[in-house]
Amino acid sequence: MPGTAIVGLQWGDEAKGKIVDLLTKQHDIVVRYQGGANAGHTVVVGDKKYKLSLIPSGIFRPNVQCVIAGGVVLHPEALLQEIATLNAQDVAIGKNLIISDRAHVIFPWHHVEDVLYNTIGSNEPIGTTMRGIGPCYQDKVARSFAIRLGDIYQADFRERIATIVDAKKRMLAGLVNRPDRREGAEIQPDLDVNFDVDTICKNYIGYADRLRPYVADTTDYLLNAVDADKRILFEGAQGALLDIDHGTFPYVTSSNSSGTGISSGSGVPAKFITKIIGIVKAYTTRVGGGPFPTEQDNDTGQKIRDRGNEYGTVTKRPRRCGWFDAVAARYTVRISGVDTLSLMLLDVLSTFETLQICTEYELDGRRIQVFPSVSEDLRRVEAVYETLPGWSEDITGVRNFGDLPANARSYVKRIGELIGRPIEFVSVGPDREQTITV
Ligand code: IMP
Repeated sequence: MPGTAIVGLQWGDEAKGKIVDLLTKQHDIVVRYQGGANAGHTVVVGDKKYKLSLIPSGIFRPNVQCVIAGGVVLHPEALLQEIATLNAQDVAIGKNLIISDRAHVIFPWHHVEDVLYNTIGSNEPIGTTMRGIGPCYQDKVARSFAIRLGDIYQADFRERIATIVDAKKRMLAGLVNRPDRREGAEIQPDLDVNFDVDTICKNYIGYADRLRPYVADTTDYLLNAVDADKRILFEGAQGALLDIDHGTFPYVTSSNSSGTGISSGSGVPAKFITKIIGIVKAYTTRVGGGPFPTEQDNDTGQKIRDRGNEYGTVTKRPRRCGWFDAVAARYTVRISGVDTLSLMLLDVLSTFETLQICTEYELDGRRIQVFPSVSEDLRRVEAVYETLPGWSEDITGVRNFGDLPANARSYVKRIGELIGRPIEFVSVGPDREQTITV
């Protein structure tokens, strides 16, 4: 069974959705396996634009089965809203979507906790998407206060909610009233911890009823698909540098967003994942806090932001922008087991006179090629750059690698060389068609 995975190699927003969309026609099944509605991307098909957050990008091809696997955390209302918006755009969603009954569910307290933890921590704020993702995963690991989608259909759901609400109210009341919250941090005035058991049960039972046609044991489904030799595409969310175990901790998301998470999130053993495509932007962006060695907090960064429209799909925050970091990408290629690369948004770099690629770091006067495991070390490194000549041409209409300006070809080749993997696709615009197969 050829199981292919698409994994972001930077801090997310690498335009993975476009490559997933492109590859879906060669696959029977597309699987989302980690993260939640913190992810967001836009897929452009012809003159239509679609926004996706939880639903796999395979949804636009009627013969593709989409799966939201057990490693995802779900906000049922957000999911229903996404289904309704796509329906309104004439995208049919029925038996072509199944959702794991093992997926953990986000409740109102998770949103409150997300706000509180962002304003109380001892470090620079993580700057989460405030979608309750981290707190939901936290409850999953802690187990006692966790509810999975399948639990909502059980007879004891109300009793469990009553117990959780009682505990959460008492725990959170103390945090909301702390006098020593981070200086300058604004606690939202509507941070309400008076969760009402009746309202929550009514709402969530209502959501669960509407989701019932989609709910399934997706692990069993996928294992049967493996046995039947179906072609499965795994769609990663966020990027490897945001991985909870291997990323720039604590400035990460709460799931395994590198290649390491495919198997645990989907239930499909790693040996069946035969190809991993790593997605990188031709430059680097980051949203939220944390170290970023190649950041250009200057006119260059602003030019990248303007040309690449680098504003968050979910939170609309301006993304931090900088040069391509080959040290980081070499690390994430290895940690994710990447076979080939897809280089995205190359068109954004047109009109720069020169381009920089970070090839090494300097830490305490020493040159290093290894990506530091401790964020405070990464914060102290100086990026060492190689300068390449830019190109002035508009490349959005180019469809063959040979037709790119010579300097653009050299830039792409150099990135492949530095990372040590072949480049399979180069993207020169948001449309499906604006893709060069190398
Ligand atoms: P969380 O996932 O909402 O907990 O946010 C944790 C960190 O991951 C923050 O820095 C977010 O900005 C970042 N993050 C989460 N999801 C995405 C994404 O889809 N793209 C880019 N950054 C993300």
